[in-house]
Amino acid sequence: MTRFTRIAGLGHYLPPRVVTNHDLEQLMDTSDAWIQERSGIRERHFAADDVGCTDLAVEAARAALADAGWKPEDVQFVIFATLSPDLYFPGNGVLLQHKLGLGEVGAMDIRNQCTGFVYGFAMADGVIRMGTCDRVLVIGSELQSPALRLTTEGRDTAVLFGDGAGAACLEVCDGSASRVLGHRMHSNGKYALELTIQRPGAANRPWISNEMIEDGSCGIHMNGREVFRHAITKFPAVILEVLADHGVKPADLALVVPHQANERITEAVRKRLDLPDERVYSNIGRYGNTTAASIPIALSEAVTEGKVKRGDLVCLASFGSGFTWAASLLRY
Ligand code: COA
Repeated sequence: MTRFTRIAGLGHYLPPRVVTNHDLEQLMDTSDAWIQERSGIRERHFAADDVGCTDLAVEAARAALADAGWKPEDVQFVIFATLSPDLYFPGNGVLLQHKLGLGEVGAMDIRNQCTGFVYGFAMADGVIRMGTCDRVLVIGSELQSPALRLTTEGRDTAVLFGDGAGAACLEVCDGSASRVLGHRMHSNGKYALELTIQRPGAANRPWISNEMIEDGSCGIHMNGREVFRHAITKFPAVILEVLADHGVKPADLALVVPHQANERITEAVRKRLDLPDERVYSNIGRYGNTTAASIPIALSEAVTEGKVKRGDLVCLASFGSGFTWAASLLRY
């Protein structure tokens, strides 16, 4: 049998605390109107102080395992995408392996920010297709609220990001009904500093200092206009590439699940692909940008809402820090 990969189950989890734009108005000089007009975001979820990134991931992973009908011992490999790990090292993959009570299986982290889930999805597909494993758990989870500067100085990024987690159980199949078709991945590190947290970093001496904390270099720095300019061209380009690889036209897609960065970026992608609103998924209004978690949360919701059915063609696509951009095409 030629080996292919299918999604066996999906799950997602948002921490219960909802923070609205009006809540942020109390903390900084911003407005609900500015945030909605620029990004489409109305509210986001922030985790409680005693919750870590892997705690969110555990909830999403348990939901995905239940959806797939897997037990923890069925998982043979873990791929964890995040930019907000619990520890500098080791990575979240091993922490999740332990918290979920998995066997002593391989576990790794992917540090690709907004494209982390798509890159992880592609790696899992490779691991399954080459016969190394039959069942892989891929997670995107982010706990971004602790790094946000919830003040007027930090408002350019603080209003955009949120916490959450999504997970997918991928398993080997014969490809006759469902299967992952392929992937395209790109990067251009020339733009690495346009969206970054630069400190602490091992290229710097000293590794960390009080000055770094005070001058804001331990916080998120984003050149929003540069990110926007690249996103609206690279996003549709990588989608069209992966579609062309498989002779698929945009109109053949049941759903595009884009990384939820910004409603205006999603709208630009939709227009470029000439698709109606209902075929490009959007939940940014409720969750903000949850980075590596946004695609698995959106895909999990879309399936729950009946917007994706078995056999449908679906494209996952993302653009973000690095810059990196990537897309995966699958028959769900
Ligand atoms: N509330 C109110 N005003 C704010 C604000 C906030 N939260 N953040 C910034 N502003 C102000 C700026 O200080 C600036 O004021 P000035 O004109 O007096 O200098 C004004 O709003 C315009 O700022 P600007 O950065 O030019 O706005 P913009 O139209 O480029 O929109 C983004 C900002 C971030 C929404 C937009 O650039 C964007 O969407 N970029 C892509 C971001 C993204 O998706 N990142 C994640 C990628 S994975």
